[in-house]
Amino acid sequence: MPVVNPNIQTIKPRELRELGAGILITNSYIIYRKPELREHALSKGLHSLLDFDGPIMTDSGSFQLSVYGEVEVNNAQIIQFQKDIGSDICVPLDIPTPPDVSRQRAESELAVTMERLEEAAGLKGSSLLAAPIQGSTYPDLREDAARKLSGMDFDVYPIGAVVPLMESYRYSDLVDVIVASKKGLSPAAPVHLFGAGHPMMFSLAVALGCDLFDSASYALYAKDGRYMTSRGTHHIEDLQYLPCSCPVCTSYDANEIIKSENREELLARHNLYVTFAEMREIKQAIREGSLWELVEQRCRAPRSFTLVLNQR
Ligand code: GUN
Ligand code: ZN
Repeated sequence: MPVVNPNIQTIKPRELRELGAGILITNSYIIYRKPELREHALSKGLHSLLDFDGPIMTDSGSFQLSVYGEVEVNNAQIIQFQKDIGSDICVPLDIPTPPDVSRQRAESELAVTMERLEEAAGLKGSSLLAAPIQGSTYPDLREDAARKLSGMDFDVYPIGAVVPLMESYRYSDLVDVIVASKKGLSPAAPVHLFGAGHPMMFSLAVALGCDLFDSASYALYAKDGRYMTSRGTHHIEDLQYLPCSCPVCTSYDANEIIKSENREELLARHNLYVTFAEMREIKQAIREGSLWELVEQRCRAPRSFTLVLNQR
């Protein structure tokens, strides 16, 4: 699920679909806060606002909560808003408790998250509802939360607050968090790894039982001049050759991208291509029974998460 920013979106949702996106994710809180977006979404619907007729998942503002410490909406209001604009998958206002906080803080924030998820389940309409699993880096809290939520009326189970682990390359801790959450869930429950968008880690996450990914990385990395590959990231300025055969990389060479005034857009488009190509490679590896070999290749790649295997 590519993240669509309703304020600034260089690659339009129609084109995202052509690149391979069957489903998008956007942020309902951004829409809620901006009068012109809000009015369009309330009168004509979210799908009209984004000009996309496939399924759209909406996040709640929890990420803003984790960055700014507060948001100007409560759980019931943002759930109602997501339903009113016709979101296909709604997300309650969970608290993304960061890694390594005290046990006391992890427990008390998880208790608030669980209350809000129960409240959301009571407000459920015809949209699907996600139940983010929190619990910081305490595996027993993650597992207990997952077990309680799996007995309730939810449709998708995102594993939350893992972005800080991925940003600091703490893949070993990420594995522990995913495994703990999976232990509490039914094997059939759809699991979403919140904020995971680098193709180099998809195979590992899929092998651990994750089904859905979302990320703004394709766009954020592009803004920074970063070129994604299934084995890691390069700064475009460091590349003499482009190891990719997507339409961008066959129409331009590295130097032309570096000098182009559309550098950001070209990189974003390439980043999306490699992201979807990796998804297809993983799906085919599953069919062939070779997923683990793919994971091993990705784990050994020099610019990726070599550390996972070494740390364990
Ligand atoms: N986006 C990235 N992480 C999270 C999370 O833990 N919860 C929500 N709602 N959105 C996120
Ligand atoms: Zn490319």
